[in-house]
Amino acid sequence: MKHTKVKDLLNSTKTLHEVNAKGWVRTFRNNQFIALNDGSTIHNIQCVVDFENTPEETLKRITTGAAVSVTGELVESKGAGQKFEIQVKKLEILGDSDAEKFPMQPKKHSLEFLRANAHLRVRTNAFGAIMRVRSVLSFAVHNYFQERGFVYVNTPVITGADAEGAGEMFQVTSLPLDNLPKNEEGTIDYSKDFFGKHTNLTVSGQLEGETFAMALGQIYTFGPTFRAENSNTSRHLAEFWMIEPEVAFNNLDDNMDLAEDFIQYVIKYTMDKCQDDLKFLEGRLLEEEKSKPQAERSEMSLLEKLNFVLENNFKRVSYTEAIDILRDSTPNKKKKFQYIINEWGADLQSEHERYLVEKHFKCPVILFDYPANIKAFYMRLNEDGKTVRAMDILFPGIGEIVGGSQREERYDVLVEKMKALGIDEEELWWYLDTRRFGSAVHSGFGLGFERLVLFVTGMTNIRDVIPFPRTPMNAEF
Ligand code: 4AD
Ligand code: MG
Repeated sequence: MKHTKVKDLLNSTKTLHEVNAKGWVRTFRNNQFIALNDGSTIHNIQCVVDFENTPEETLKRITTGAAVSVTGELVESKGAGQKFEIQVKKLEILGDSDAEKFPMQPKKHSLEFLRANAHLRVRTNAFGAIMRVRSVLSFAVHNYFQERGFVYVNTPVITGADAEGAGEMFQVTSLPLDNLPKNEEGTIDYSKDFFGKHTNLTVSGQLEGETFAMALGQIYTFGPTFRAENSNTSRHLAEFWMIEPEVAFNNLDDNMDLAEDFIQYVIKYTMDKCQDDLKFLEGRLLEEEKSKPQAERSEMSLLEKLNFVLENNFKRVSYTEAIDILRDSTPNKKKKFQYIINEWGADLQSEHERYLVEKHFKCPVILFDYPANIKAFYMRLNEDGKTVRAMDILFPGIGEIVGGSQREERYDVLVEKMKALGIDEEELWWYLDTRRFGSAVHSGFGLGFERLVLFVTGMTNIRDVIPFPRTPMNAEF
């Protein structure tokens, strides 16, 4: 008999004479009640075992974590909280689980403990919910762009380019590490490497994406990205997923409109499709909040926070205005206050970003027109000669969720900038071709997918929203 998903059984419109469900035992109470979960929903289905007619041997094997198949009648449940339960007629243990050794006990585990068991934590309610929300969010991303005629581009994972020019790349080589071939100058001879040149894992698909936008008009990428940066924070991963749309003929304002509309769409889509999971995560967060001092508790519940983002425009503020706000925010000279910035031109630290979003504007903020010297080489220089058409979107509780810009479309200006930064023109000859042949205004941005999942699930550590987090050794978080 084909099994039916627990979600469909719980949503049934009528009782059913014979159904089969397969899943994993969450708990087994009073030798009678199995809470069965199959991952299709946050909810378990209660399966009532006829313990008088079930061999003692079988009952003993119904343990937390065991895989079972139950066949029986779907009847209305007398218990509170669920409409249906299964009166079990036939029970089969598909895979035993040693109750003593199974790490996911039916109690609350710390997130640290669960991180150390990433392969099993998905069997908990919270991680099941997070991973389903993540999946729906991914689908929403594709839906948004596909509905609007964007072409999905798979940019390479192995590349010779450092798109961000920040030198945060993981190198890729086929050379024997214990016997690296050297050239005359004593440096590594990459001509003997697999590709005949130095390569690394991509930090961003943007540069390749731009070349496609200059032919297909509107494109997006959605793939894994790698950064060997000092990422010992709760917002950084060494391997994360990035969504990068790129649009020909869009200027910075169009880019902001696109980013805002996109983010609101995917959040709305996920709220519609993941009501039960989000409700569960909201409850989880409320519990967590209770353990905090009153002053630190969030004023809004998870769903209120999500709705707030849907209902309010993101505040657009130039870097220069932001610096003025931060300067003025200094409350009194005696008190040590971390928001002071004296220098125009300094990069904002995360506490500055948090101040702007959480204390000053109290809504998502798009900061634009940053000083050229703190942003990547490819951004469009403004007429003032010192700022670029960059934009970062800052979210409450997250900080930077999007980084993007209008691109420098003028060949000469771009080459000049690359020279000044010591970026090899020959390495990027193909990128420069976009400016040689039919160059045009174009813009794009990168959204860190895990930061979005963090926001939507209300989780606080990025390691908890990706299936198998890749983080640097000796990570403290
Ligand atoms: O601001 P970033 O570095 O921008 C770019 O890579 C551009 N090439 C994007 C573009 O314009 N097409 O990264 C974009 C976003 C950040 O805002 C952040 O959300 C996320 O990627 N991000 C990370 N997420 C997790 N772990 C990390 N180590 C991240 N680094 C960046
Ligand atoms: Mg950035």
